[in-house]
Amino acid sequence: MRVVDSVLELIGKTPMLRLHKITRGVRAQVLLKLEYLNPSGSYKDRIAFRMIANAEASGALKPGCTIVESSSGNTAIALAFVGAAKGYAVKVFYPQDVWAEEKRRTLERFGAEIEMVPLEETEAARRAGVHGARVEIPGRVKCRELMHRRADVWWARQFSNPDCVRAHNELGLEILEQTEGKVDAFTASIGTGGNFLGVAQVLKRERPEVKCIAVQPTEWSGWVDPLSPEARFVPGITGGIIEEIRASGLVDEVVYVGNEEARSMAYRLSQEEGVFCGVSTGANVVAAIREAKKRGSGATVVTTAVDRGDRYFSDERFIT
Ligand SMILES: Cc1ncc(COP(=O)(O)O)c(C=O)c1O
Repeated sequence: MRVVDSVLELIGKTPMLRLHKITRGVRAQVLLKLEYLNPSGSYKDRIAFRMIANAEASGALKPGCTIVESSSGNTAIALAFVGAAKGYAVKVFYPQDVWAEEKRRTLERFGAEIEMVPLEETEAARRAGVHGARVEIPGRVKCRELMHRRADVWWARQFSNPDCVRAHNELGLEILEQTEGKVDAFTASIGTGGNFLGVAQVLKRERPEVKCIAVQPTEWSGWVDPLSPEARFVPGITGGIIEEIRASGLVDEVVYVGNEEARSMAYRLSQEEGVFCGVSTGANVVAAIREAKKRGSGATVVTTAVDRGDRYFSDERFIT
């Protein structure tokens, strides 16, 4: 129990929960790091805080600047949250086709400005070489334009900002501390890859035999129109950068989890364990349990509860 002077001090140092009911009959233990307990509700608080702090330190972000990002979910909310706590204006380019009312209201509550970006502009942007979750690409083009036009704008660039991986290095250190270094496997769904890379780097440095498993949505086959019937992928993990992640040399296995399987695991986590989480957490836990079933008692598989479940009441297809 402590008193803090800033809500930003409450980012990180999240607890870890040993799953019991969902893992009944499984000999290895599955530990879930409860990242949805970060102040704005996801592990993206870590990267937002780190990116902003380093941009301040380097002079790229000065008082009075506006922070911009293209995001339809956790990163936008985390930047809006940290921006509010530090006194910056935040502008979010939001993909209008994946509109979710609860996210808009959360962003507005933190005082962020929202500009809707239509999806039609995506193809042109992709041809111009902009990477990332398809729905967020048109907004990324707008961030770039704005930054070139105005000196008082700072674009966080979660897809290429190295502070994202560094922020997740800290999460990896916490995992080592909480497990006293006894981690046998780690599973992480891939969006920007920040969580996987940051944690895997730290775990493998300490314990090279740790198996690091990247989780991808079964139905995801590249550039799927997010509004088409086949776009039934696990939300949040469709950045399409799995090839870059593979090239890191840290991936021991890529596993695929279907959207329905991930969703029903997220519901089970709420109903059986009381863990109120989003769909990609369901995917992480499905992958963790599959791995735990291959191992004997005494083994430990770790994964993260990425974000809160109430982020997806109105549209559970997209989490980016
Ligand atoms: C809900 C959700 N799950 C998983 C991810 C993947 O995390 P990362 O970007 O660190 O790969 C993200 C973010 O992109 C997300 O918002």
